[in-house]
Amino acid sequence: MSGSSRAGRIGTIDSYRQLRQIGEGTYGKVYLCEDKQSGKQVAIKKVQISAGKEGFPQTAVREIKLLAQLRHENIVRLEHIVTPPKGSAQEGDTIFMVFEYMDHDLEGLLRDTRVTLTAYHIKWWMKQLTEGLKFCHDKRMLHRDIKASNILIDNMGNLKLADFGLARNYSETCSDTKYSNKVITLWYRPPELLLGSETYGPAVDMWSVGCILAQMVIGKPAFMGANHIDQLEVIFKLCGTPTQSNWPTHSELPWYQMFRPPHMIDRCLRPHLESIDADHSDEHAVDLLDKLLVLDPARRMTAEKMLDHDWFYNEPLPQRRERPEPLLPENVSCHEYETKQAAKARPRESGGGEGRRSRAGDGGAQAPTSPTGAGGGRSGRDAKRRRSSSAGGPRIDEHGELIRDSSFKAGMERRRGSSSSGADAAYDPLAPGAAPKSAPKQPKPQSTETPAAETPASAGAMEQMDLFAGVGGGAPPPSSSELFGRK
Ligand SMILES: Nc1ncnc2c1ncn2[C@@H]1O[C@H](COP(=O)(O)OP(=O)(O)OP(=O)(O)O)[C@@H](O)[C@H]1O
Ligand SMILES: [Mg+2]
Repeated sequence: MSGSSRAGRIGTIDSYRQLRQIGEGTYGKVYLCEDKQSGKQVAIKKVQISAGKEGFPQTAVREIKLLAQLRHENIVRLEHIVTPPKGSAQEGDTIFMVFEYMDHDLEGLLRDTRVTLTAYHIKWWMKQLTEGLKFCHDKRMLHRDIKASNILIDNMGNLKLADFGLARNYSETCSDTKYSNKVITLWYRPPELLLGSETYGPAVDMWSVGCILAQMVIGKPAFMGANHIDQLEVIFKLCGTPTQSNWPTHSELPWYQMFRPPHMIDRCLRPHLESIDADHSDEHAVDLLDKLLVLDPARRMTAEKMLDHDWFYNEPLPQRRERPEPLLPENVSCHEYETKQAAKARPRESGGGEGRRSRAGDGGAQAPTSPTGAGGGRSGRDAKRRRSSSAGGPRIDEHGELIRDSSFKAGMERRRGSSSSGADAAYDPLAPGAAPKSAPKQPKPQSTETPAAETPASAGAMEQMDLFAGVGGGAPPPSSSELFGRK
């Protein structure tokens, strides 16, 4: 079957049986389902297409369009698009994207204390991630939301890149084209975007790749800023502040003057990485990180070069093993949503002794920190500077994001609850009324969906409840701490 026909086949959702919810994104929920005829498991993303003013959500349009062009073993396969049954309440309101099912996402695995990562896992996954990304970049496509929860992994260790809702084509020849600088989840966002660049390329994804590698090697996200300014600060603390020699064009960036560091800091990433006692670090991993987490995007390692790096040619070799140890017992899946739900259900533990590592997301609302934890304490001067930098001109909202003026804020307020965002320009949160997909997120579209477990009903009726639930009603929006920091 050809790529486009595969992604384009229209059927109805009643060919599938819903098993359980496995994900919750900005624009819809993701369910593990089973094809009633073949018994094959699939992941179905439910997308409301009529809740927002602009109609069909732009993220879904992008995802469908781009995934139809991207066929690669390290990119999740969109198999079909299906609709609600004819005459159902959701007809015209909802579409369903049917994906191949993957047992886990990386965020879920990193949070799960039953999973022990080895140096082999890390290298094998990084290789596959880089292969998938190189394929995108070769096709002139930027992903723009590389983070652990968008990296899917199956029990055999195969990895696929998912969530192309923020992806876009880019042009190498037309350097005038401006792209939104408000893409990529904050902790994975590169310094050029934090400094307002609107003319960027594949290097933005490679910074995120460096962050993912650091997260796996160190055991927690490398740069956990509490807000926009703080994100820059924790980056500068390890990577040094921009200078003429390490980043000749930095002062031309739109927000450089606004976020100009008050004093110079030397780069100390390499000695820092060498000094920490990370289980899965070695000289090659440190060297690779040092080449990925480079301030100047023009000097950052590309996906192509990365695949040539010595790290991949030293033991343990990153290749498929004949009989890999399953990551978790069969039928145990591990997605960010599930691990969060499980954590919510557990009584609060004091001291956090159980966690094998700090988790992505744990730091969303906490004091900003560097991998050493050194950034946690703030001097009064730092705090004063942060306040004053948001006092004139662009200001920072309670999520640490930029507010340009009151009309922007009013525009954002008006849009709360809107489920759609426009084309790339409209993703720009600095444009009035835009609803960015990545951090901080706007509250999700409201829905009346009832958690299946709470609903006394037959299995047949249950499947009607979630996947076929109507539009409208009122789940409370996520709290700001949930919206920020981990997205
Ligand atoms: N094919 C799949 N197989 C298994 N799980 C999946 C699949 N696709 C998505 N998921 C799960 O659902 C979650 C949300 O999916 P996805 O990231 O595509 O949605 P989204 O609405 O764009 O999310 P967000 O805005 O939070 O990034 C993923 O993090 C993953 O845990
Ligand atoms: Mg996602």
